[in-house]
Amino acid sequence: METISIINAKDHVEQKVKIGVWLTNKRSSGKIAFLQLRDGSAFFQGVVVKNNVSEETFKLAKELKQESSFYVIGTIHEDTRSHFGYEIEIEDIEFVGESDNYPITPKEHGTDFLMDHRHLWLRSSRQFAIMQVRNELIRATYEFFNKEGFIKLDAPILTGSAPEGTTELFHTEYFEKDAYLSQSGQLYEEAGAMAYGKVFSFGPTFRAEKSKTRRHLIEFWMIEPEMAFMHQEESLELQERYIAFLVQNVLDNCEYALDILGRDKEVLKQYTQLPFPRITYDDAIKLLQESGQFPDVKWGDDFGSPEETYLANHFSKPVFVMNYPKSMKPFYMKPHPTRDDVVICADLLAPEGYGEIIGGSERATDPEYLAQQIEAAGLDLKEYEWYLDLRRYGSVPHSGFGLGLERTVTWITGESHIREAIPFPRLLNRIYP
Ligand code: 4AD
Ligand code: MG
Repeated sequence: METISIINAKDHVEQKVKIGVWLTNKRSSGKIAFLQLRDGSAFFQGVVVKNNVSEETFKLAKELKQESSFYVIGTIHEDTRSHFGYEIEIEDIEFVGESDNYPITPKEHGTDFLMDHRHLWLRSSRQFAIMQVRNELIRATYEFFNKEGFIKLDAPILTGSAPEGTTELFHTEYFEKDAYLSQSGQLYEEAGAMAYGKVFSFGPTFRAEKSKTRRHLIEFWMIEPEMAFMHQEESLELQERYIAFLVQNVLDNCEYALDILGRDKEVLKQYTQLPFPRITYDDAIKLLQESGQFPDVKWGDDFGSPEETYLANHFSKPVFVMNYPKSMKPFYMKPHPTRDDVVICADLLAPEGYGEIIGGSERATDPEYLAQQIEAAGLDLKEYEWYLDLRRYGSVPHSGFGLGLERTVTWITGESHIREAIPFPRLLNRIYP
C-alpha cells in the first residue's frame, strides 16, 4: 500500500492508499460519517460507512475534532459530485494528534481575530489557494528570467543608501554606524548589470509606510531586473512579456487554486494578450480631467487609488503610464531628452482596481547630473560614491524595473486586501504572529 498525497488521488483510483491528513470539518449520521480532509496538497472527502469498518474505527471517526491529525487508509474512488473529483472510502484510521477547541470554527470571524491567528488561518482553503498562486508566480519568475538570459544577483538587505527616498526608511544600527533595511535592491542591480549584462534580484524589501491601505505592506517581496544596453522601450516589452508569462503559467498550473478562489479565467486570459496599452502621464491627466470624475486633478498630481483604478479600467488590460513629472520620482531616473519636467519611466497599473504593480525607468547615465540629484534629494553623496563609479567606468544606457510580488498575487487571485498575499503580513499595526 502506497502513502500518497491527496493531489495525486487521480493516479490511484480504485487502489488502497494511506494519507496523512487533518480534519477540516465533518458531518455524520448513525450509519455514515463524511470527513472533510486536507493534507496541504488538496482538500477532499473521506467516507466512513459503519457497516464496512470496525466498531472502534466508526466511533473514532465520529469523535474526530476539527484540525486533529491522523492517517486514513482506504480506497480512492471517483466522485463526480465534488469539485475535486475523487474521495476516499476509509477502512481504517490511525490517530496522530489531538486538537481541542480549534479557535477558527466554520462560523464567521472578524479580520483582527483571523490576523491574530494567522499561523492557523493559513490552513484554510482560500489561503491555501493564494499561496499556491504565489508559489507559481515565484517559480515562473525564475523560469522566465532564466529563459531570457538573466542571472539572479542577490542584493544586500542591510544598506547605507536609500534608493527610493528617506521618509520610508527603517533605521537600524550596524555596529558604530547607521544602517537601513533595504527599500529596493536596484542600485546594486545596476552594478550587477554593468558586470553581467542582465541580472535580477528577488528579495524582501522594507518600507516604513505610515499609510494603512489595501495595497501597502511594510515588508514585501520585490523582483528587480536590470538590463545593460537597454532603453526604456525595450524594457517595457520585456515587462509585458513577463506579466503575460506569469498570468499564463497561473492559468496553466493553478486551475485548482483558481477554482477555489472563484477567479474568472476568461478575465485572466485577456491579460496574456500583448501589447499592453501605453499612455503618457500628460495624457493620463487629460483622460482623468475629461472623465468629469476628478474635477480637481491637475498636472503634477500623484495618482491615488481612484485615479489608478479609473485609468486601468478605461483600458481593461494592464496599462503603462509613462514619463511622470520629475518632482515625484526618485533621483536615478533618466531625464527626458527634450523636456526637463518629466523623466523616462513607467508604472504598470493593473486592471480591476489593483493599482501599480510595476515601477521602472531608464537610468540616468551622467555622473554630474546624478550627483546633483542625489544632493537635491537630501542624501549623503559619500554613500553613493560607488554608485557614481558605475557612470565613471564604462557607463551604458540601461533600464530596469521592480515588480511587487504581493500586489501581483492580490491582483491575480482577485483578493481585496494585500495582507492575504503573504504568509505573515507586516502591517502598520501588526508584527504578530
Ligand atoms: O515603484 P517602486 O517604489 O520602485 C522601486 O522600488 C524601484 N527601485 C524599482 C526598480 O526600478 N528596480 O516599487 C516597485 C513595486 C511597486 O510597483 C509595487 O508593486 C511594489 O513594488 N510596492 C509595494 N508593494 C507592497 N507594499 C508596499 N508598501 C509597496 N511599495 C512598492
Ligand atoms: Mg512606484
